[in-house]
Amino acid sequence: ISLKEYNTFGIDVNAKRFVSITSVYQLQQLLKEEKNVFLISGGSNMLLTKDIDTLVVHIDIKGVSIDRENPNNIHLTVNAGENWHEFVLWCVSQNYGGLENLSLIPGNVGTCPIQNIGAYGVEVKDTITKVEAVEIETGKLVSFSAEECQFGYRNSIFKNEAKGKYVLTSVSFQLTKNNHKLNTSYGAIESELASKDITNPTIKDISDAVIAIRQSKLPDPKEIGNSGSFFKNPVISREHFETLQKKYPNIPSYVISDTEIKVPAGWLIEQSGFKGKRFGDYGVHEKQALVLVNYGSAKGNEIYELVQKIQHTIKDKFNIDLEIEVNIIK
Ligand code: EPU
Repeated sequence: ISLKEYNTFGIDVNAKRFVSITSVYQLQQLLKEEKNVFLISGGSNMLLTKDIDTLVVHIDIKGVSIDRENPNNIHLTVNAGENWHEFVLWCVSQNYGGLENLSLIPGNVGTCPIQNIGAYGVEVKDTITKVEAVEIETGKLVSFSAEECQFGYRNSIFKNEAKGKYVLTSVSFQLTKNNHKLNTSYGAIESELASKDITNPTIKDISDAVIAIRQSKLPDPKEIGNSGSFFKNPVISREHFETLQKKYPNIPSYVISDTEIKVPAGWLIEQSGFKGKRFGDYGVHEKQALVLVNYGSAKGNEIYELVQKIQHTIKDKFNIDLEIEVNIIK
């Protein structure tokens, strides 16, 4: 079958064998027979460059359960196949706080811990209490505490030691029911709220603001195939940054520590002249240079060639290695 509908980049490659699984039990039975599997969930963080020969397992386990609650907090467990944004909207509608800044992020709940999704001043690690997963080798259901997940900027144990060893099946969150810790520190949220004269925002106001900001900058994968930020924002030494600053006085930056500075990759790519560039049916998004797009029938390899071209240009111009965030399937 074609995987075009199963990856947000909309790349048309085929799977020889494909199965959707809807329960942990079904997954465990399957793993007894077959350990060499290609997992797909929301398909929002992959660039497919070829047909998949191994069994493609679509993780489609649904359901949300309330574990416990008190007047201030609620603990929820959400199965991996739930759509992330629908879950966030449901939380907002119930006045459960903590995820509103993460509105409109593509993908499913089960993959949110892998890269510790983050936007507008919030990372999902701030609300995760536990991740459950089936170990591929043994079929055992295991659980990782938030600490064991080793979360970092766009990083976790699931991108390192645990990579390829587990199928994440559910994520547990602790959310607030009142006294919400609103995060409006991100400039774009402040200006969006101010433009609507909102001085005392609710979590719904923040969610609406984030949705408006994202819709104005980021392409909707249903209309234009993409995988969100293609690269991570690089962290460089202060010395390196100061050298660049002499040449590019307007270079934006975020201080990470006394010795390290993070530079937005989108700025580096824009300065290199790639923003809005279109090559055939693919290119660099016109409003956010960090996002690569498929206008319809691009091949994964074509996009990957563009990725390498961007990396080489940034290396030559700024002496920075841009790290890819999206999984390249080759
Ligand atoms: N910039 C440019 N040109 C561009 C894009 C960005 O010059 O085309 C510069 C501007 O100076 C801008 C700065 O980069 O002020 C930051 O841009 P933006 O606020 O759009 O954020 P980002 O650093 O490019 C990160 C995340 C996004 C997340 C936003 C908002 C990464 C790799 N990406 O992008 O995540 O939505 O912050 O918090 O950290 C995603 O992962 O798919 C994603 C969209």
